[in-house]
Amino acid sequence: MKTLVLANQKGGVGKSAVATLLAHYLAQQGQRVLALDFDHQGNLTQPLARSGRTVQAPFGTGQLMAEAGHKLASSSFCLVPASLELLTLERQPARHNEFANRLLDFLVWHDARFDVCLVDTNPNPDIRLVSALACADHVLSPIQLNQEALDGVHFLLNHPRVGLRKLQAVLNPKLNLIGLLPTMVETTPFQKANWIQLVQHHPSLMIRIGDGPGQYAALPRRASVAEAQASGEVLWEMKKTAARDAWREFEPSLRHIAGVVTTSGVGHGLAA
Ligand SMILES: Nc1ncnc2c1ncn2[C@@H]1O[C@H](COP(=O)(O)OP(=O)(O)O)[C@@H](O)[C@H]1O
Ligand SMILES: [Mg+2]
Repeated sequence: MKTLVLANQKGGVGKSAVATLLAHYLAQQGQRVLALDFDHQGNLTQPLARSGRTVQAPFGTGQLMAEAGHKLASSSFCLVPASLELLTLERQPARHNEFANRLLDFLVWHDARFDVCLVDTNPNPDIRLVSALACADHVLSPIQLNQEALDGVHFLLNHPRVGLRKLQAVLNPKLNLIGLLPTMVETTPFQKANWIQLVQHHPSLMIRIGDGPGQYAALPRRASVAEAQASGEVLWEMKKTAARDAWREFEPSLRHIAGVVTTSGVGHGLAA
């Protein structure tokens, strides 16, 4: 099982939407998928639960971290939902190692049962995010093309507690940064200028999906994504033509990312 964590300390950048799309996409490809929602807001839990495609664990991710002995029923598409206990974990620093180790034990225990574990995270730089990144094989960072987000890339890599370079150096040398995934991309001059800035300043963090100029993974802003998140429908199965058109635009990026996670070896480390 390969573990992919969606992480960015900014909220509202598309982490949960990308996690939901990837979960359905990987499941449709025949991968056995385990989805863990570490954000108490439950923006991965709700769409997956509403989709009716997942078997939901009788415990939440808060209990998974705080209590021993949680095991999943047999299914090829499982969801461990967000729970309010998540909010209590950070306040128990003496138990932080225990929480991280329990998550690791849980993943090791289920290693042969699933092909991919997808972890959606909260924006706070707390023990949930540290634990998820400490256990991960891959991390993907959705990002919006606004100035604040671009300024945040340095923090994303170098934050003293949850910076990806720092975590890789101190806690998890195997962590592979797949890269930055611009989401909600619009063809405005402002976003185009920010895109150019991102490519210039962080070329090695962009995710190449083809050899041509500008062929990087990115997801445009499409209303059907928000609709799918709200209704639990699978984007490419929605009746509206707009949703299927959106999926056609999204598919090359998500196919590439799914390929990196399931075959590994591709992608790059964090040294660049
Ligand atoms: N590509 C997209 N196009 C349009 N809306 C999107 C897109 N990606 C996400 N959204 C919407 O934007 C909001 C924030 O996205 P979300 O995935 O919840 O962000 P995060 O998990 O980083 O906080 C949600 O309402 C979501 O449905
Ligand atoms: Mg979210």
